[in-house]
Amino acid sequence: MRLEEQRDPQGTRYLLYKERSCIGRALLRENQLLSLEIHPDWRGRGYGSYLLKELLRRGGGFDPARETCFTAPLPSDAAAQALARKFGFLPRDGRLCRRRVPDLSAVSLCHRFLAGTLQPGGLYLDATCGNGHDTLFLCSIAGPHGRVIGLDIQPRAVENTNALLAAHGMAGIGRAELCDHRELERFSPPGSADCVLFNFGWLPGAAHTIHSTAASSVPALQAGLRALKPGGVLAAVLYSGKVIGDAEKQAALALFRALPLTAYTVLVCDFANWADTAPLPCFVMKKQAGPP
Ligand SMILES: C[S@@+](CC[C@H](N)C(=O)[O-])C[C@H]1O[C@@H](n2cnc3c(N)ncnc32)[C@H](O)[C@@H]1O
Repeated sequence: MRLEEQRDPQGTRYLLYKERSCIGRALLRENQLLSLEIHPDWRGRGYGSYLLKELLRRGGGFDPARETCFTAPLPSDAAAQALARKFGFLPRDGRLCRRRVPDLSAVSLCHRFLAGTLQPGGLYLDATCGNGHDTLFLCSIAGPHGRVIGLDIQPRAVENTNALLAAHGMAGIGRAELCDHRELERFSPPGSADCVLFNFGWLPGAAHTIHSTAASSVPALQAGLRALKPGGVLAAVLYSGKVIGDAEKQAALALFRALPLTAYTVLVCDFANWADTAPLPCFVMKKQAGPP
């Protein structure tokens, strides 16, 4: 099966081929689906679903981080109505509409919390810089007077992060270094960091065999807590599951729960109606020294 895309004054035409025969076609103008039809000989075999799913996918309709709205004319026949329902189109103002808003992910919750807590101009560490999205986010908070250091044990992660920062004009604020996060105090001596961020796990888009483990994550979290200024925040997104197991998450939680209340405020933000393996955002705030 092959889906061909052709530019057209009316929008983009999609032609679905099975071997040499064109068995389906659709016309899309931005996110308005103007028409979709499957040749009568090929109906009822899932090709309509395939075509519609592919159009939605190409337009970002399955990306949980994107807001999308696709519209289509109200269909007259039952099969087309069922197809539209299957993909979440609902009647609205005389048309069909399929709207998706981004899910609140553990990482976006973490960003929201930090954006509401941190001030520009500080020192921020991204202890697991990966593809650089968290480092870039920290740069946007740090601003031109702040400094951001991203760390990763994989050269590809360091390259990706430095390239992302350069592409966004942030190379003057942040940079990535090849370094195990256990050694983060090389870049942030005790009491110097406004924020230390950990987003554990594996490098998205790379082999899952290289991932963070309790053996390095626990000493790294301890180093991160030492590096924090009074008033600073350590944020960590913990993971568990088939590949990564549960040991790192449990060890990090045990460390957080044992921290003295006199010195730290600790939040563990459980997605309570999700699976037990849902990512777990945690925040540790180092208290300002109180009166003796
Ligand atoms: C989930 S990814 C981080 C995502 C990243 N912050 C982003 O925005 O794309 C986890 C990263 O942690 C890195 N990592 C694993 N163990 C590490 C260690 N001991 N020191 C530093 N980085 C480590 C992995 O190589 C991987 O790139």
